[in-house]
Amino acid sequence: MEKTLAIIKPDGVKKNIIGEIISRFEKNGLMVSAIKKITLSKEEAKDFYIVHEERPFYESLSDFMSEGPIVVVVLEGENAITKTRKIIGATNPADADPSTIRRDFAESIERNIVHGSDSPESAAFEISYFFSEMEIRH
Ligand code: CMP
Repeated sequence: MEKTLAIIKPDGVKKNIIGEIISRFEKNGLMVSAIKKITLSKEEAKDFYIVHEERPFYESLSDFMSEGPIVVVVLEGENAITKTRKIIGATNPADADPSTIRRDFAESIERNIVHGSDSPESAAFEISYFFSEMEIRH
């Protein structure tokens, strides 16, 4: 079984759709392996998105990700990485397929409700960024 990391971003938490988002993952066969609600400092948000350091949106993305609580979730299942990204939809909600989370709820390419790891390497880095071994073992 593969594991991936999803984040319900500050805009998703403010819209009070944590349950709706988790439910979409569960209805598609993914299981919640670990979950918690936390607030990142700007420095922590910058660390998490370090791969985007050179992008023009890096500062603004880090401000957004630290503006309020987020929910970090480890999802587990067959092809969890690909499946999660399919349920989430394209980065820009305008390009996202119908019935994806971003198409249904996101306001813009930056404030796009949810994040999902894009590869096994990023999933490993991102899960270990938020969860200890004790929190994810079952
Ligand atoms: P995410 O899947 O979390 O990965 C990186 C994030 O950067 C992305 O979702 C968006 O929130 C943000 N992002 C990506 N591209 C842009 C862009 N062109 N302008 C602003 N924010 C962006």
